[in-house]
Amino acid sequence: LTIRAGSYADELVKTAKTVASPGRGILAMDESNATCGKRLASIGLENTEANRQAYRTLLVSAPGIGQYVSGAILFEETLYQSTIDGKKIVDVLVEQGIVPGIKVDKGLVPLTGSNDESWCQGLDGLASRTAAYYQQGARFAKCIPNGPSALAVKEAAWGLARYASIAQDNGLVPIVEPEILLDGEHTIDRTFEVALKVWAEVFFYLAENNVLFEGILLKPSMVTPGAEAKERATPQQVADYTLKLLHRRIPPAVPGIMFLSGGQSEVEATLNLNAMNQSPNPWHVSFSYARALQNTCLKTWGGRPENVKAAQDALLIRAKANSLAQLGKYTG
Ligand code: 13P
Repeated sequence: LTIRAGSYADELVKTAKTVASPGRGILAMDESNATCGKRLASIGLENTEANRQAYRTLLVSAPGIGQYVSGAILFEETLYQSTIDGKKIVDVLVEQGIVPGIKVDKGLVPLTGSNDESWCQGLDGLASRTAAYYQQGARFAKCIPNGPSALAVKEAAWGLARYASIAQDNGLVPIVEPEILLDGEHTIDRTFEVALKVWAEVFFYLAENNVLFEGILLKPSMVTPGAEAKERATPQQVADYTLKLLHRRIPPAVPGIMFLSGGQSEVEATLNLNAMNQSPNPWHVSFSYARALQNTCLKTWGGRPENVKAAQDALLIRAKANSLAQLGKYTG
């Protein structure tokens, strides 16, 4: 039996612990240029490099955000991008005490033979890309598949494990993120059942690929009813189901569980996280939110330079609320 201990093992463990540090979580700002375009369109802005740069500058330079945010996931463009005043974005993050991360998948494509599900591209050439991202300052990575059929789950779990192994080999802490989409009318019990299956396979293949569990981070969806389900769940129910899932499937060697917000409202995402932190957990249970951190911030900005400060304040309000929720101390 080999337990992986490559040349980066100590650094991986340290990076994962830094990202999973008390009262902090991840700012997901890895919207692809297409997704970023949708966000910019919602405030009437064109999807130009200059507008993406202005928005990302606003996010990373919010004063003191490093108190609440330990890591930021970037799209490849941003890893090589500068702020509007010419500083490397990676350097601004490091000055804020934030570990830079990178989205490494190459987008979703149809998975043939499945139930109209998809899988992400990007395993080919991943070793050399992750090595280059490390050189550029990235220290963790994410990659995202989807779909619940047996075929899709197996393909996604195996692919995630290969990605995790390659990322670790090149010094990046892999965020393991089999996103179970919220879309649909399904019940919370159905989400729970699918999640149990998905995480069983993911951990089976992570182990088969000798991935160092102390040097990964997980990014699950919370166990909730489908977005269009009539019966809604309270934060307490979401916390009960989600923690039951984590206890059954996730070894305590994994340092951090950083949830995505998946279309929940800003306040809902904070309340659910807070409910999960009402009693001690074997892992750091925190956030890796994009929309639930950025929605109000983006609207407040509206593309106007005079609104930058107000928009940064809006971001800091959400970041602080989620920091408190990580500590189980959010009171609304
Ligand atoms: P949301 O929090 O908006 O679901 O996005 C998370 C994510 O996966 C981006 O990295």
